[in-house]
Amino acid sequence: MQTNTWGEGPLRYGGDYNPEQWPERVWREDVALMRRARVNLVTVGVFAWSRLEPAPGRYTFDWLDRALDLLHDNGVRVALATPTASPPPWFSLAHPDALPVTADGVRLHHGSRDTYCAAAPAYRSAARNIAAALADRYAHHPALALWHVHNEYGTTCHCEHAAAAFRRWLADRHGDLDGLNDAWATSFWSQHYTDWAQVTTPRATQYLANPGHLLDFRRFWSQTLLAAYTEQRDLLRAANPAVPVTTNYVLGDWVPVDHARWAAAVDLVAIDHYPSAVDGGAEEQTALAADLARGWARRGTGGDGWLLMESAPNQIHTAGRMHTKEPGRMLRHSLAHVARGSRGVLFFQWRAPAGGAERFHSALVPHAGPDSRVFREAVELGGLLERLDEVEGRVEAPVAVVRDAASGWALRHPGLPSGRVDHDAEVAATHRALWRAGYGCDVLAPGDRLDGHRLLVLPAVYLADAATVDWVREHVQAGGHLLVTYLSGVADSHGRVRLGGYPGAYRNLLGVRVEEFHPLADGERLPLTGGGTATVWSETVHLTGARPVTAYASGVLAGRPAVTRHDVGAATAWYVSTRPDEDTYRRLLTEAARAAGAMPTCPAAPPGVEAVRRRSDRGSWLFLLNHTDQPQQIPVSGVNLLTGDLFDNQPLAPNAAAILREP
Ligand code: GLA
Repeated sequence: MQTNTWGEGPLRYGGDYNPEQWPERVWREDVALMRRARVNLVTVGVFAWSRLEPAPGRYTFDWLDRALDLLHDNGVRVALATPTASPPPWFSLAHPDALPVTADGVRLHHGSRDTYCAAAPAYRSAARNIAAALADRYAHHPALALWHVHNEYGTTCHCEHAAAAFRRWLADRHGDLDGLNDAWATSFWSQHYTDWAQVTTPRATQYLANPGHLLDFRRFWSQTLLAAYTEQRDLLRAANPAVPVTTNYVLGDWVPVDHARWAAAVDLVAIDHYPSAVDGGAEEQTALAADLARGWARRGTGGDGWLLMESAPNQIHTAGRMHTKEPGRMLRHSLAHVARGSRGVLFFQWRAPAGGAERFHSALVPHAGPDSRVFREAVELGGLLERLDEVEGRVEAPVAVVRDAASGWALRHPGLPSGRVDHDAEVAATHRALWRAGYGCDVLAPGDRLDGHRLLVLPAVYLADAATVDWVREHVQAGGHLLVTYLSGVADSHGRVRLGGYPGAYRNLLGVRVEEFHPLADGERLPLTGGGTATVWSETVHLTGARPVTAYASGVLAGRPAVTRHDVGAATAWYVSTRPDEDTYRRLLTEAARAAGAMPTCPAAPPGVEAVRRRSDRGSWLFLLNHTDQPQQIPVSGVNLLTGDLFDNQPLAPNAAAILREP
């Protein structure tokens, strides 16, 4: 891995730039506007394969030469992409076997993007060839700051190439068919395999599919896509080891990528983030995405620096409707990422195209042109980012929340006691409650380094292998507090239930034994003693050392514990057997955090004001983001880097931000 220099120097500002979609006279206006907005980094070439290689092996780099030279002459550096997320039409016609096949056996065709099977040899070889040609030509171009491999790895396929690769991967993972049969519990429903040729990808089935099979298929794709990335990375690195290489992570429940496991393969963690909630929720989603990215960055390079590679300037994409961001929201979202370690703010995209599937996606230069609110806000943002060079150091986070990609996949399988439980939703609910209570949070993967975290939270982390169980136990033995929610540690790493009472992995640590589940219906709520309600889930909890904190107050579980605490040496291990309503969950997490000795980032910040602190041995900086439409009095002081003025125990304007250099 490269020691990356992304922790230093000015923040990067810009976005995806598609000169291939415009006549060259527009390029000249583009660079003039980029200078005006102080853009210093653009991503070029992401989907330009058909314009770079119009026929197999025939390259047309002249336009890219001119575009990169023009950007360089105007002080704009380039994250140069390999265009492998969108093979040209000639490729699919020449290699129909490399077109992706769905679980239903339908072969997809070109006409959109991402139309390839990443396990198909012809695709992999064409991808290597175009990456090598780009490396050959541009590895020493003075504009080149970063290689951006592919775009948002996340496709799967069920073709014969994929099936063969899956079998090889399974043989490697399980050793032999006995190992596979055991891991997948194939004695159930007559699925016992006696020959590798019988093992396919999990195609559409008559009834419920085998959960071990589904889980391994996701893991296989995570590693196969990683191999596709890595072979391009190695070619690019070989051409000039000084240029860092990355790819932009896409977040979403459909993505078969375990980003934590990719962290060591990228020189810089880069994420795309598009919040989808409109009423307030976008801020919490932004904070969670940024905290996830920082967790991956630490796992990879050990530092807090990562990069927001894509975000939407003035829109929030909700299902079926685009919501226009109110004035100031683009700035606050951008600063929320920078506060949490992003080394820049990049958008999708620079200029809105007139045609193509994403013609109405937001852009820094919208259809209206530069005489527009969004471009004026872009100019303002570029100016403000230049004032933040001094901000550095670790993000203050006394609480760690665990997110485990494989647990998320396993909980999406059919045949669970409830279709309403989702690991990522539980992570988000936990993070949101802590965000609202004002606690800084790290979001970590099982096994990550715990670094002074007072409280470790496992929200429905369904799978637990032996190493994870040890990791959690060691945290508690070292005096760290623990809060575990329902359905955590119920299964082993293959998704097989740990027997003897739930949650098999953590029963002893928590001092409880769960005998039966009682999942709740949509909209069903059970009252809890001491106020609040239980939603989504409930269960029969027996105390085997823990003390009850609250109990279910009605129904078959009336009087039985809902939340418990167990003293383990100097630490407390809490168990939450339901999803409490939002206020109750926030109060509970606050109580657990307090008991653990964790403090909110800025205890005096009123609700709706987000506070994030960065600290190094050279100082500390407090980001304050007022997400309300009222002025908010905040009793703190320091020099506000955004204005240069002293901020001294005063109101922060509605929808405004301040970044204080703390005394
Ligand atoms: C992703 C892609 C972009 C674009 C945006 C639109 O992040 O990388 O190419 O499609 O989404 O939101």
